[in-house]
Amino acid sequence: MKQFVEEILITEDEIAKKVKELGERISLDYKGKDLLLICVLKGAIMFMSDLSKEITIPMDMDFMAVSSYGASTQSSGVVKIIKDLDTSIENRHIIIVEDIIDSGLTLSYLIQNLESRKPASLAICTLLDKPARRVSRVKPDYTGFVIEDHFVVGYGLDYDEKFRNVPYVFIPKAEIIK
Ligand code: XMP
Ligand code: MG
Repeated sequence: MKQFVEEILITEDEIAKKVKELGERISLDYKGKDLLLICVLKGAIMFMSDLSKEITIPMDMDFMAVSSYGASTQSSGVVKIIKDLDTSIENRHIIIVEDIIDSGLTLSYLIQNLESRKPASLAICTLLDKPARRVSRVKPDYTGFVIEDHFVVGYGLDYDEKFRNVPYVFIPKAEIIK
């Protein structure tokens, strides 16, 4: 994959260490609570998988797929649910697991949508936070890494569906991004 990499931003080791830390924090915070992790497909899949293995209390997982219309490297804020949850979230403690918060438009739509289903609580856990381009006022409760305004891929994040399988987060070479 090296030929596609401009710069490795977050290494496999750094991710593993941070994910363990977040798993420990969540395990403490949600002890004795009915915890449901909601993975936002597809970008959060690697993070969800690794994070759930670091959570040491009983928990459930469910999956949601959303798409935002518009250019491929930018969110439009118009969100469509492609796949909804299988389970009811009423009176349950929910953590939305996201790959990245950029403008925050996708997440603010999701929060609004899920709040209307009356969960006991709703928190946000994101691997990456890119606050430079924030439009909506969402703040994650658990953050892996705050990054500068770069387009990044790897560890679940894609460009044109590629690079999700790369185990680190990297800035792709400019000639890759059309
Ligand atoms: P918003 O702007 O709604 O965006 O917070 C959230 C979604 O936009 C995608 N996104 C990215 N995907 N590299 C990616 O591969 C990036 O740097 C990036 N920034 C935003 C992503 O799908 C995220 O869930
Ligand atoms: Mg995404």
